[in-house]
Order: sequence, then structure tokens, then C-alpha cells
Amino acid sequence: MAGRVRDAVLAKLQNNKGQYLSGEKLSDQLGVSRAAVWKAIRGLREEGYPIEAMTNRGYLLPDSPEVITEEEIRRYLPARYRDNGLYLFDVLDSTNNKARQLAAEGGQVHGSTVIALQQTGGKGRLGRNFFSPKEGIYFSIIIRPDFDLRRSVLVTVAAAAAVAEAIESVSGQRARIKWVNDVYVGGKKVCGILTEGITDFESGQIDHLVIGIGINTTTKGFPKELQDIAGAVEGEYSRPALVAGVITRVLDYLGNIEAREFLQSYRRKSMLIGEDVMVFRGVYRQNPEEEMDGRPARVTGIDEDGGLKVIYTDGTRETLVTGEVTVRRTGEKQSPPQA
Ligand code: BTN
Repeated sequence: MAGRVRDAVLAKLQNNKGQYLSGEKLSDQLGVSRAAVWKAIRGLREEGYPIEAMTNRGYLLPDSPEVITEEEIRRYLPARYRDNGLYLFDVLDSTNNKARQLAAEGGQVHGSTVIALQQTGGKGRLGRNFFSPKEGIYFSIIIRPDFDLRRSVLVTVAAAAAVAEAIESVSGQRARIKWVNDVYVGGKKVCGILTEGITDFESGQIDHLVIGIGINTTTKGFPKELQDIAGAVEGEYSRPALVAGVITRVLDYLGNIEAREFLQSYRRKSMLIGEDVMVFRGVYRQNPEEEMDGRPARVTGIDEDGGLKVIYTDGTRETLVTGEVTVRRTGEKQSPPQA
């Protein structure tokens, strides 16, 4: 819905959050009929604004977390990204799937984002599911890389730094990163990132990347096996501002990946540097008994290409590259298949 009355009513409600504004006052102040005000309110509700109405008092936009709407996200995007594609859905199987479809259809989709308020088939890494109930934030950013895809570890590193920084700046909560790209708040994983490449049928080359990001905002209703390890970025911050903050940082960082501007904050937020870990070859399988033996090591740093530098107990050193290893902090709880 677009229109002058709608914009004016929304502006009034936003400038008076948490307070009732009567329909009469709104119609007088805006110079429009009461019916026009009501029509605008109805349209805004359909867009997702949780406007409350009370007889004799009027309309109120709660002073609580802002709902995710396309317009709200744009409001928080800087001018250079404000006209980028934003595709918002109530429910999708997976935002990554939808983004892949858009990228495969062609057109100018670099920098576009697909957002869903709920996913029915959220995908995690290593073929796992990603539990995606209504309260979370799920989105996928489409990138047409102008860089060498041998930089793919750096893409995931940049995305993790972008998410952790945006969480800190928008919610005020301290975020940390577990190599390669799990983001933690309060010692629990609050965000997972799944990056997929879209191959061009003709050339057989990867011509787009889809960076899928899922952020929990509550763990209420999470299955028991997830409660132990999954956390959430709870509180009254603006959800649209968080989405916009991540999009902006991802596009800025990947726009000049060679500058590696994100590495400094990634290293600062790393929860593995200096820690004792177990390094596993291959991937975690569902039955820990079947898991290959881990090798104890200490993490010494993150190299310029996003690799994890470790020293084993026998003194040999190695730089680990994502895909070939799984790293777990000594004593850390094992992720169940759905985490
Ligand atoms: C992981 O931690 O295993 C990665 C989880 C990635 C989840 C996000 S939610 C948005 C996007 N759509 C998906 O289906 N997956 C990613």
C-alpha cells in the first residue's frame, strides 16, 4: 500500500509510539476524513504493523520491537542500498531456496535480499535442518561476486563479522564468533549462516552466491535438544534495523573483499583464539560414537584468508580451511543434528 495518507498516519504513529492518537485528531491534523484514516490503519495492519485500536482512545503503535516490513528495513538502509531488491514473505520453505530461484531466473539481483518471517524447511550446514519458528529472523542476501571464489572462506568470515557487529550495534548485546561463522551471545549460538553457490548452467561457473542468515530472537518453544545450545538475541531492539545493519555490512565488506576490513573485528570477536580445541577431520555424523577421533590443539589465530591457525600438542602447526574440519572447544557440548 502506498499513498500520502498512509505515510502521514504512519509517521504520526511512529512519532508517538506507545501513545493513543484519536481518529478525530488524526483526521483534523492531516486534513483528511475519518474514513481515510481508518482505511490507512487497515492497510498498515495488513502490511504487518501491530497497530492497536481502543474505543474512545484511538490508535496506538506499541513501543516494542519493530516488526519486519519492507519499508522499515529500507528506512534503516543507507541511501546507497535503499533501492536494492527486498522480497518479504510470511512463510517460505527456505529463503535460500527462494533466493537461488531468483538468482537462477537472471536479472539484476546482486544485493537483493529475500526475507521470511518463518521457514518450514530451513536449511542448515552439513545437510542439517535449521529450526525456523515464527519469532526468528531469516534472510538470504544474493551476491554476484566480482572476486575470485577461492576467497569463499573470506565470504563466510565477512558475513559472520557483519552479523556480530550488527547484533552489537542494534541490540547492545555482546556477540562472539565461533570459526567459521557461528555467532554466539551469552555463550549460546544465536545465529547460523549458510552460504551456497549458484552455478550458471551455460558456463558451469558459480555466478551468484546466496548468503543465508538465521537469527533466533527467542528460544521459547524450541525443542528440548536445542534448548541447551541455542540462544537468542532477545530484547526490545528494532528487528528491521538488525536486518538492514547486516545487509549493509555484508555488501560493504564484499564490495571490497581484498581490503579485508572485517578481519580485525572478526579476530577481536573470535571465541576460539587462545582456546584449547579438538580438531576433527571430515564432518560430524549424527552418532557421536561413530565420529572419527579428534586431535587436541590450541588455536593461535586467524590468517589473512580466514583460515584457523592451530598448534597441536606435538608441536606441529597447521592452518585449517573450512569444509575439511570441525573444531570443538574442549568440553563443549556436541551440536545435535538440528542445531
Ligand atoms: C547453520 O548454522 O547450520 C546454518 C543455518 C543457516 C540458516 C539460514 S536461515 C535463512 C537461510 N535459509 C535457510 O534455509 N537457511 C539459512
